Amino acid sequence: MTMPLNPTRRDDLGLLVGDLKTAASPFRQHLLGLHRKYLPLRDGTVASYIPELARANPDWFAICAVTTSGQQFGVGDVNQQFTIQSVSKPFVYGMALDAMGSEAVSRRVGVEPTGDAFNSLIKLDDDSKRPHNPMVNAGAIATVDLIRGADPTERLRKLLSAFEVYTGRPMSIDAAVFTSERSTGHRNRAIAHLMLNFGMISGSVDETLDLYFQQCSMLVTCQDLAMMAATLANGGVNPVTGQRALAAEHLRDVLSVMYTCGMYDYAGEWAYTVGVPAKSGVSGAILAVVPGRMGIAVFSPPLDERGNSVRGIRVCEELSRDLGLHVFAPTSGRASALGI
Ligand code: DON
Repeated sequence: MTMPLNPTRRDDLGLLVGDLKTAASPFRQHLLGLHRKYLPLRDGTVASYIPELARANPDWFAICAVTTSGQQFGVGDVNQQFTIQSVSKPFVYGMALDAMGSEAVSRRVGVEPTGDAFNSLIKLDDDSKRPHNPMVNAGAIATVDLIRGADPTERLRKLLSAFEVYTGRPMSIDAAVFTSERSTGHRNRAIAHLMLNFGMISGSVDETLDLYFQQCSMLVTCQDLAMMAATLANGGVNPVTGQRALAAEHLRDVLSVMYTCGMYDYAGEWAYTVGVPAKSGVSGAILAVVPGRMGIAVFSPPLDERGNSVRGIRVCEELSRDLGLHVFAPTSGRASALGI
């Protein structure tokens, strides 16, 4: 099922929703200032462990925000497509919760941060044999195993349809990245086979791995990610199409694991300084949810040593500080001065 954005819908400024370029507003000007400030930053390196990802341009840089009332703001390469990678993980976790219920899902994946790298298998062979959380690869593979269907095509169709409700537009897979991941993902294969041995995967392990690689290879733009974040900020309902993407009863579960585990071994520092549920991915995206207010996404491929976008972290830290976005901070007057 695909739903194009409603072209006649207008935002609070009277601009057509989706017309990012002309949305002249104090908030967009603020985003523009951040983009100008951090574009010259040359730190970090583009991920290359999946050969196809190394083709990304380190200068790509976009910042987007969508409010819960459906206003859209964006600066930079807002329409540049890239693969979603690990940013997909909380959304697939939400799909599994909706499909199986939280009790069944919690038998396969926990909610404890690991403090380890995203692809670590160090803690997998502990007492419970259950992956620690759905934001690291082990937990994400156990989670996507729960997206069931009669055959691989049906499972993929379910995955794409669920993401289409979040983005409000048709989704597709980058075949080159999928093939690249599939042929080089030996560590993920090892993790999946270990979990098969522990009984944490019950479907076909190869089919589930293919679905995981496809999940990571979905093509998105920064604008899409901001819309997905805004959907979570808006109680699970896409603020532009009005379609529900996630059952209200599972929203808290998804946001909680994003808050505690979404930034890998930087999760504690992120919760302390930025203070909103978020998820990063190796293609250089960070998606952040400001509950009840807006979704934010930053895309810039160069990564730090933990696998988080360097410019993404800096922009989110500054935005949170400037606008008082931290969930434990008093609401900042600055945000209302910018009209959001
Ligand atoms: O499993 C992998 O290696 C990738 N497909 C996803 C990794 C990812 O984005 C982790 N992020 N920081």
